[in-house]
Order: sequence, then structure tokens, then C-alpha cells
Amino acid sequence: MKLTLKIWRQKDANSKGSMQTYPIDGVDGDMSFLEMLDVLNDGLINQGEDPVVFDHDCREGICGACSLMINGEPHGPDRLITTCQLHMRRFNDGDTIVIEPFRAKAFPVIKDLMVDRSSFERIQHAGGYISVNTSGNTIDANAIPIEKEDADASFNAAACIGCGACVAACKNASAMLFTSAKVSQFALLPQGKVEATRRVLNMVEQMDKEGFGNCTNTGACEVECPKGISLENIARMNREYLSASLKG
Ligand code: SF4
Ligand code: FES
Repeated sequence: MKLTLKIWRQKDANSKGSMQTYPIDGVDGDMSFLEMLDVLNDGLINQGEDPVVFDHDCREGICGACSLMINGEPHGPDRLITTCQLHMRRFNDGDTIVIEPFRAKAFPVIKDLMVDRSSFERIQHAGGYISVNTSGNTIDANAIPIEKEDADASFNAAACIGCGACVAACKNASAMLFTSAKVSQFALLPQGKVEATRRVLNMVEQMDKEGFGNCTNTGACEVECPKGISLENIARMNREYLSASLKG
């Protein structure tokens, strides 16, 4: 396949970026999207040019690092996959593909297609944990009975990989889907009840401090989420927040 890539190039957070055009030949349909970018970078390096910087780690849909906006969609045209799981057979010979970083005030560009998502880490640090006694008296998790429905919903929320596609898809750059998944995975379990009140208050406060926008229920986040995180989590977080505010 011969393709034309239009890629966002930006030296660093303080420089002005621009779209650059790169023709690429010999792309195989069985290549992943990131392997196709590897081929492009090999060519750029051989020509003595600066390779395109993009984020990646596991390359199997686990880490959430591969945050690319492809033809205007976070993680590209397929549903329920990350960029590293997208294959070039999804494109046709002669296509032009536009590749940009995830754009949000709270995700500043580090270089080219790589953004800084440490704002998500700070939201997690604000309350995304439980306190467990590890002094030798730890209770076996299986000793606490949990309704199957709650266990399943908690597990589904815990599938969030923190990729940031929900923020990139949202016209308000809201982080409500991510934060609500991280609140829900604990709120649904007895182990998460101890810190429940301060968790939701602190995580929402940190989310606002980071400069993410408000949720206006467009649902774009749910559509683009590679892990199928449901909007129900946002409703649950809003209930948790209201109840915590009244207690507070
Ligand atoms: S909710 Fe979905 S889109 Fe948002 S960070 Fe988690 S996995 Fe990514
Ligand atoms: S590189 Fe880890 S999810 Fe894509």
C-alpha cells in the first residue's frame, strides 16, 4: 500500500506545531498502526531526519500509552481497541491519514504526537486507592462476600487503562469517564467504603484543578473508549459526590 501521512510535528511544549506530509510506500495490511510508524521513522532516520515521537509501551492494548488521534478519532476508526491494536488493513491503498496528538489543555504536548498525561496520575494519587492492613492480619479478600453484580461492575470499571481517549473525544475535554471509572471500581466494593467520602471529593477536586472541562452528557467518551467503560460510571460518581458533599 502507498499512503500519504499528515502528521503533527511540534518540537516541544513551547513551540508552535504544524502538520507535515510524508509519503510512505510498502505498507502491509498485517502491520499494526505503530509498526507502520516504525517503518516511517526508519526511513526518516536513514535520511538523517528527526523521527516522529509517539508514545507506546505494551503494544497489546494494556498500558494505554499509544494515544493517537487518527483521522479525527482517538485510537482510529475501529471500536474497542487501542491504536497499537489497529491494523493497516483497515486502510486502502492511496489513502491519506491524518495523525495528531490527543488535544486537551490538561494534556500538554511533549513532542510531536506524545502528550503529558500525568494529570491522570495526580487524580489517581488524590484518592484512587484503598488502605489495607498489611501487618500480618490481612483478611483474605475471598472472606468478604460480594454480590456478583457489584463484582462484575467493579471489574468492568477497573478495565480503564488511563489512555485519555475519553478526554480527546470530548468537546469539553472532560475527564469524567476516567475519574468515574477510578471512583466506581472502589465504590462498588466493601473494601472501598472506608475512604469513599474523601476519595470522590478529592479526586473530583483534583480533576477540576488540572483544567479538564465539564461533562455535558454527549456520550462521545463512551463511544471512543477502547475498554467499553460505560456512562453509568459517571452517574454513579455524581451520586457518590452528592452523598459525600452532604456528609462533608
Ligand atoms: S475511560 Fe476509557 S477512554 Fe477514558 S482513560 Fe479509561 S480506558 Fe481510556
Ligand atoms: S501501547 Fe500499550 S495500549 Fe497501546
